[in-house]
Amino acid sequence: MPKNFISINDFSKKQIFEEILPQCEGRIEFVKSREIIQRKNDAKVTFAFFEPSTRTLGSYYEASQLLGFRSDKVVGEDFTSIKKKESMANTARMYANQNADVIVIRTKIEGAPRFISEILEEEGYNVSVQNGGDGTNQHPTQTFLDLLTIKKHLGRLEKFKIGFFGDLKYGRTIHSLLCALSHQKNVSVVLASDPETALQDQYKSLFRDVQIGDSLETLVDCDLNYGGRLQEERFAGDPIALQRARGRFKITRKVLDDWKKDVIIMHPLPYTVEITPEVRRDKRIIVDDQAWCGLPTRVHLLQDGYTSRICKAVKNGERGKLKILKQVTLSKYLEQRSEKKAYQYFVPIQNGIVIDHIPNGLGLKIRGFISSFLGGKYVRHLIEDVDSGKMGGCKDVIVVEGGFLTKEQMISVCSLNPTITINDIREGVFAKFKIDTPSVVSGIGRCPNQNCITNNDPEAKYKFSSIGGGVKCVYCEKHFTTEEVLV
Ligand code: NCD
Repeated sequence: MPKNFISINDFSKKQIFEEILPQCEGRIEFVKSREIIQRKNDAKVTFAFFEPSTRTLGSYYEASQLLGFRSDKVVGEDFTSIKKKESMANTARMYANQNADVIVIRTKIEGAPRFISEILEEEGYNVSVQNGGDGTNQHPTQTFLDLLTIKKHLGRLEKFKIGFFGDLKYGRTIHSLLCALSHQKNVSVVLASDPETALQDQYKSLFRDVQIGDSLETLVDCDLNYGGRLQEERFAGDPIALQRARGRFKITRKVLDDWKKDVIIMHPLPYTVEITPEVRRDKRIIVDDQAWCGLPTRVHLLQDGYTSRICKAVKNGERGKLKILKQVTLSKYLEQRSEKKAYQYFVPIQNGIVIDHIPNGLGLKIRGFISSFLGGKYVRHLIEDVDSGKMGGCKDVIVVEGGFLTKEQMISVCSLNPTITINDIREGVFAKFKIDTPSVVSGIGRCPNQNCITNNDPEAKYKFSSIGGGVKCVYCEKHFTTEEVLV
């Protein structure tokens, strides 16, 4: 098991379904026996819960007691120095300093668990960081207890139709579960929400078969229905829309009568109005057993995190490397160039760089970054809408006369889009570079998500990974177009 437990997206299908899940399941008997392991070592877990919690904290805490760990509960920001504006990095350093072997963190700041795991790793602390929920992003430990519940009650983890209802936009448990289920065969998804709380495309696009509706009737032929409360505390839309969304999805007797006789109904809890009192004890509603599955799951994750804390963490995305596509003397290059008709429109420069094959429209934004790198010193030309056979349409080109980028800056620019090439012409040598994908983009752009750790901790740096047609913030895991991050 990896040292940290941050996001479902860090795990392969094999790790999720063949390694971690069976190990969580293997802890069921241990939890049922209520046997408490005598403390054999000095294992300590710190629960840093900066958002309310009944189940996640409660089951983690009980798991720590069964395992004989010492534990420290920090509940709410109000009684920590975060209230005095201490940063997340410094808060985490202190818990590690106070002998935590495992830190379980819950926070509204998306990407904070990953960020603190990196800080602690770099500074040599042997600590496992586990994500107890970061804003609207991920809740990976909930996913394992959800999978355990599905396996127990449905008897299979593939070939089913699952309906999600309620707040699909801000509900992190839904996001994590979808990421896990996207590995499985024949899982079709039905979504029922208000337009204001509809699921983001980045999750929808994980599935081939997605049906979209706006009421609980859409879920009639699902094998499993999974609800979520309206996450009012995260709602960023207009207050009238919020008002409209309140109480829209309620499982009443009438609704349940229309659903499959053997449907299973799950909910991460707490619910507000989704499960009405008249159906609360219906056998199909298995939310209490679902919550119980948190115990064996967290027993496994705590024990395993403790054991793996001394390991090296898997690095999340490497910085790309530049590969040299061509390197010739300048005279040879000019000779070759004069033979090609298409090139004759441009007078070649003899000292400087040409950033070529920029997707059309991105040139203006990239020029801004080049200016910030070079401090506005050199002559820069932005040539837009150049015909390009290679790009199947138009491209933009930036020419900088007399100015150069460092290798790191070239990596940042090329990482923005794998089509970009950089020609570097100096001291009589022409060299053409391109990025080796996959790559992490850093040192350029900023995450537009205000709740992302990169906009909330002065030590956090913007970092993106290139994904088809755009980028994904390494921390909050939100997808953006390249234009959106180049602000
Ligand atoms: C959820 C959470 O915190 O994301 N609860 C949980 O951990 N079981 C769901 C919620 O708060 O609505």
